[in-house]
Amino acid sequence: MSKRFYITTAIDYVNGQPHLGHAYEKIIADVIARARRSLEHQTFFLTGLDEHGQKVQQAAISESKSPQSYCDELAEVWKRFVAKLGLTNDDFVRTTESRHQKIVQAILLKLNAAGHFYRDTYRGFYSAKEETFLTEKDRRPDGTFDPSYGDVTELQEQNYYFKLKDQQQWLIDYIEQNPTFISPDYRRNEVLGFLKHNTLEDLCITRPANRLNWGIPIPFDPNFVTYVWFDALVNYFSIPASQGDPTAAKVLGSEALPQSPALSLWPADIHVIGKDILKFHAVYWPIMLKAMGAALPKQILVHGWWQKDGQKMSKTIGNVVDPIAVIDEWGLDAFRFYVLRELDIGPDGNWTEGGFKARYSAELANGLGNLVNRSLAMLKRYRNGLVPSVSTELAIDTERVVLEVRAALELNQLQRALQSIWSLVTRGNQYVDHTAPFRLAKDPANAQRLDEVLYNLVEVCRIIAVLLWPFLPGTAEKIYAQLGLPAKPDKFSLTRWGLLRSSHSIGSPAPLFPRIDA
Ligand code: MSP
Repeated sequence: MSKRFYITTAIDYVNGQPHLGHAYEKIIADVIARARRSLEHQTFFLTGLDEHGQKVQQAAISESKSPQSYCDELAEVWKRFVAKLGLTNDDFVRTTESRHQKIVQAILLKLNAAGHFYRDTYRGFYSAKEETFLTEKDRRPDGTFDPSYGDVTELQEQNYYFKLKDQQQWLIDYIEQNPTFISPDYRRNEVLGFLKHNTLEDLCITRPANRLNWGIPIPFDPNFVTYVWFDALVNYFSIPASQGDPTAAKVLGSEALPQSPALSLWPADIHVIGKDILKFHAVYWPIMLKAMGAALPKQILVHGWWQKDGQKMSKTIGNVVDPIAVIDEWGLDAFRFYVLRELDIGPDGNWTEGGFKARYSAELANGLGNLVNRSLAMLKRYRNGLVPSVSTELAIDTERVVLEVRAALELNQLQRALQSIWSLVTRGNQYVDHTAPFRLAKDPANAQRLDEVLYNLVEVCRIIAVLLWPFLPGTAEKIYAQLGLPAKPDKFSLTRWGLLRSSHSIGSPAPLFPRIDA
């Protein structure tokens, strides 16, 4: 059983509507998963929902629902969202599922038995909105707390704590010795800076059940439930465990896990997350895993945040970009293209309607759409849709782009891959302009030259479809269908020049991206 390439996203809080930020992260993971499959790696892509905690409990109460039925209803909304984004996830985790809860409890038992926890009294401040304890350090100079914490209450309560004090140095060493563990670099430096200049406080891993009961009970003390983050992070491990992963079996004892059919998944290859939850993933999660005796994930890939027109998206301002509305109006691939092409994985991005329309019309409609449409239409018109003999005029330029895209995909540089694919789109359009097939067609003496030009054009279109497939799967499949090719363009090896055979009959060209009147 060979280990699969295992990629995850953050699991979204169930209470709330899916927005641009959630969509962006899931699309990044989907493109990486598709790209790996296209490169013929066995892949497992996990996404899902974070369903416990005080906010969910409060929201359910305010709607007079039980937390479970509240979550069940919203989970349907989120699952439809996943389908709308065209995600190829292999599983969808909900933290209220018993397969997840069982593993959280098994881990808690193991860590408790190994002496990683202690019980203590906490006196201080608590933000229910962020579900977190605050300290004096969190106060602003005027003594108040940042409004993002919502109502901050003072409380005193017993809880269980996870000892972190002795864990700092090995983690610093690990991050220093594994330069690609946190990507991009500046996020890695941020974590190192934090670890070197602060002393880690022990992590409170419970909430008293009498204050919050919407959580996973602590198996060794029924008066407590698990703190949401200790519960949520474990999803990355609980799903492999529930799939019979052999590493999970070693960590937890195989009697806890199903025997077959088993998938080998752990360690995760990539956790795709947003910058706001970096500390949980790059500090607490590795420490939890080490305490469990499990290997660390290979990479934490951190993306930035989207704003809208230079402002933070917020329900109060009413400027939240609704991906579903954009997809309904412009199509899924136009949405996927904009977010991936506009924003590299790392920095923050800014959504503007003007920017979206400009890319749609320049790069999709006039760039790619025009190249494919006129290439196929000319083959139809001048050669009755029959592919001429193989010609290699654009083969070298194409092979260079294929190599560039492959290298970019291997490094998860999605924006760079798209730039490179578009250099080929531009090359193709220039080739049409320079060779002017419509002029060649006027004189039968040019028949051979016209054959060459048409072959190069349709073969470039075909290879572009293969390169595009992880990013714009619907468009790539349409190009293949218009070329009359029954297979899917979902294998990178199909980028080899010359696979389009002489005398093959193409299908009917149709515009890929209807023009819009902005
Ligand atoms: N439930 C936690 C994650 C637990 S992972 C074990 C959570 N959920 S969330 O719904 O608030 O955020 C989910 C993901 O969406 C996070 O990675 C977050 O960074 C991302 N985004 C939320 N808003 C965003 C933007 N405006 N832009 C880009 N991504 C954003 O945190």
